[in-house]
Amino acid sequence: MSTANRLFEPFTLGGQKLANRMVLPPLTRSRATDEGLATDLMADYYRQRSGAGLIIAEGTVVLPQATAYPRVPGLYNAAQVEAWKPVVAAAKHDGNAMYCQLWHVGRQSHSTVQPDGLPPKAPSPVPITGFKYRSPDGPVAYETPREMSEADIQEAATAFGAAARNAMIAGFDGVELHGANGYLIEQFLDDGINRRTDSYGGSIENRMRFLREVLSAVFDHVPPHRVGVRLSPSSTWMDAIDSDKRRLFGTVINRLNEFGLAYLHLVEPGIAGSSSAEVSAEAIPTADLAALFDGPVIVTGGHTPETADAVIENGTADLVGFGRLFIANPDLPRRFALGAPFGDVRKRGLYGGTAEGYTDYPELSAAEL
Ligand code: PHB
Repeated sequence: MSTANRLFEPFTLGGQKLANRMVLPPLTRSRATDEGLATDLMADYYRQRSGAGLIIAEGTVVLPQATAYPRVPGLYNAAQVEAWKPVVAAAKHDGNAMYCQLWHVGRQSHSTVQPDGLPPKAPSPVPITGFKYRSPDGPVAYETPREMSEADIQEAATAFGAAARNAMIAGFDGVELHGANGYLIEQFLDDGINRRTDSYGGSIENRMRFLREVLSAVFDHVPPHRVGVRLSPSSTWMDAIDSDKRRLFGTVINRLNEFGLAYLHLVEPGIAGSSSAEVSAEAIPTADLAALFDGPVIVTGGHTPETADAVIENGTADLVGFGRLFIANPDLPRRFALGAPFGDVRKRGLYGGTAEGYTDYPELSAAEL
């Protein structure tokens, strides 16, 4: 492709100038320590991929009980803040920005990784039945979650705020709230998951209450123009079921316009968690939803340089994420610029392990430049 691709245009996000419109989207790779401390290996990984105009660091949990998997990083204590600092410093330079994705998995957790050894907490005691939990010993059934009390809900919202403050102390430029893929924020939004009869359930406004409280807790520490929200409006991955997703997400996106956020990050239809899936008949075109949002829009999921150029050109998106391509091609922007071929993702090392399958994907050699 030629350098006329619009991905190579600069973009100003939250007042920061990005050298290009390519995004490293948040990708769980499980290379933190058992205590949720970011590692030197993670610094290598993010530095290798720092050609992206925007780096969104992998899902980082806001509480011990917010995690689904071992070796996911956290931002709920001082040691975790210190551990992130060198990672952020390694990845940031003049032409990019680095946000941290703040994550609470709710019912997608499992008693084996809960601090109290009990089933996780979620808006309602509705288990995931169509999917299995990825345990170190292989797939196992999800458990029926415990229903969150009002105190649990307050604790979770407050924890998002504290983690946002910690992210800024660690050097991140902003934070992204993980409202996608059937995790806790979406568990409140979807009426197939949220069966509450109190002020957090029922109407869309009530189901949005938790998201609003999270935003409000985060805004105590980070200005709205440095806060993004990620949604996956067409995904039913992990039983993310709602009776009217178009109405739900249309309303949510309209309401988000109140805040002057850094961006809205939309997962494309055809993505189920971290994999490609068939686009269902009920899928909501990304362009329809993006058009509802007043601020910058990021789209991620299955894009090539050509489709990315097209969605920027037609006004759907401002920035485009490339997950699997960035995993296998650390120098992806350069490959795009040169029209060089792409390496493929290897399954081994995707989740957890060493440098293998993580930081050992090659850059183009001098001979290829
Ligand atoms: C995963 O670990 O497979 C994963 C994590 C976060 C997501 C999606 C998938 O949003």
